[in-house]
Amino acid sequence: MSTSIASEHTVPSELKSFLASPKQLLINGKWVNAKSGKTFDVFDPATDDVIAQAAEGNGADIDAAVAAARAAFDGGPWSKMTASQRSRFIWKIGDLIEANADQLAQLETLDNGKPFAVAKAADVALAADMFRYMAGWATKIEGNTIPLNVPYAPGSEFHAYTLKEPIGVVGQIIPWNFPLLMAAWKLGPALATGCTIVLKPAEQTPLSAIRLGELVTEAGIPDGVVNIVTGFGETAGAALASHDDVDKVAFTGSTEVGKLIIGAATGNLKKVTLELGGKSPNVIYDDADIDTAVAGAADAIFFNQGQVCSAGSRLYIQSGIYDEVVAGVSEIASNMKVGSGFDPSTQMGPLVSREQFERVNGYLRAGLDAGAEAAAGGAALDRSGYFVQPTVLKNATPEMSVVREEIFGPVVAAMPFENDNELKTHANDSTYGLAAGIWTRDISKAHRLAKAVKAGTVWINCYSIFDAALPFGGYKQSGWGREMGHAALENYLQTKSVCVNL
Ligand code: NAI
Ligand code: MG
Repeated sequence: MSTSIASEHTVPSELKSFLASPKQLLINGKWVNAKSGKTFDVFDPATDDVIAQAAEGNGADIDAAVAAARAAFDGGPWSKMTASQRSRFIWKIGDLIEANADQLAQLETLDNGKPFAVAKAADVALAADMFRYMAGWATKIEGNTIPLNVPYAPGSEFHAYTLKEPIGVVGQIIPWNFPLLMAAWKLGPALATGCTIVLKPAEQTPLSAIRLGELVTEAGIPDGVVNIVTGFGETAGAALASHDDVDKVAFTGSTEVGKLIIGAATGNLKKVTLELGGKSPNVIYDDADIDTAVAGAADAIFFNQGQVCSAGSRLYIQSGIYDEVVAGVSEIASNMKVGSGFDPSTQMGPLVSREQFERVNGYLRAGLDAGAEAAAGGAALDRSGYFVQPTVLKNATPEMSVVREEIFGPVVAAMPFENDNELKTHANDSTYGLAAGIWTRDISKAHRLAKAVKAGTVWINCYSIFDAALPFGGYKQSGWGREMGHAALENYLQTKSVCVNL
């Protein structure tokens, strides 16, 4: 089984001046070095080369950023302006993202590795759309008037209403798989509700968040409303999560760190939302449109090099079509062009980092050692950069780590099932509950399974469909709360009840 290699890797010359300038922290509207003066290396995952240096923020920088966010929240123009004014600033960020779409997509390709066309069509377009969607909500945040009964005060009359107020200063910690888009998912609702923010991008991929910080400033968002501190999780991230003057923390990343975030929040009981790992079942019934389902199953796992929390990594195939589907997905995997994201023929780029590359290779070895068989792929590519072959595993059994744990790479375990009862048990046999896919022509069966599966998102005859309007988040250990849609606003609001004796 061979994987074809796309190799042209030409970093666009337009990026060179951006990369050469110092990559600093955005605190109170100014770009500053880390107080320690330290920087860290930023790598190109296609070559393993260092491409930039970013400021390594730590607790002292987080303190400064939180103080700026607090001042902007309590006294700054942000908290005093009308929702309509706020909305226009947020809309402007969407416009600026669109105007800089090529450069932002190039930064994602360079820093994360993903194909440029994907970065532009998905990451950048969805990020712009998220700001516009949330700009629309800024003017539609309303409380209620509530008729009261009050049994112990007969004859009294009250006028009661609720106010929806921004929660305050929010800490946002994001991962590296969709660097710009995760920043948009976080900043959009926080800005729409009138919060102020300290954003901590992932250390693997700080570049597009830094560029976004420039665009946020260009859009006219007042100083201190959006602060960006690049740095490591154990230092900058942990300081933000435990900070006593942060009212809420929103985190996307591993379930392991999600649990640390909960612990860190206990000091001041800040509110917490979490979007964590997944091991999502993707189910193909024998009455599905097989060609569509096969292509969909491949896309569900190979999109973004498999570094997707909702990836369809457990593929359940009804036994009568098992061989045909495995052969189909394996053929797609074997023919995928893997290579530099800057090569237009590339369909799959490198993994994001050496650490992730080693983690995925470790899972491959563990799966093969435990008796799974590679119907396609099964190993790293023999070249520089963090490239792994798109892999389809057969003969995987429920207790194997490749079936139980999130691999976060282009590796799918394909398993047969006989009937619905057996399937439902398997589908929900996971500590995670982020997403599920169902492929069938029988709509009743599809809706029944959609109801039975414990997952925050269910895709029927499609996969990986994301939209600013559609809530996303997890059951079980896949997280707390929902992002996107109007559900996301609640994460950033407090409800105040006001009761007047008439
Ligand atoms: P991670 O959870 O360590 O990193 C995510 C973010 O959390 C980064 O910004 C990191 O700097 C920060 N962070 C790390 N430790 C922290 C701490 N103690 N306090 C506060 N912030 C902290 O994820 P990592 O190590 O990059 O990837 C490990 C695995 O996590 C992946 O293989 C994948 O399974 C999962 N993951 C899930 C993601 C998702 O979208 N749900 C995204 C990234 C990773
Ligand atoms: Mg980690």
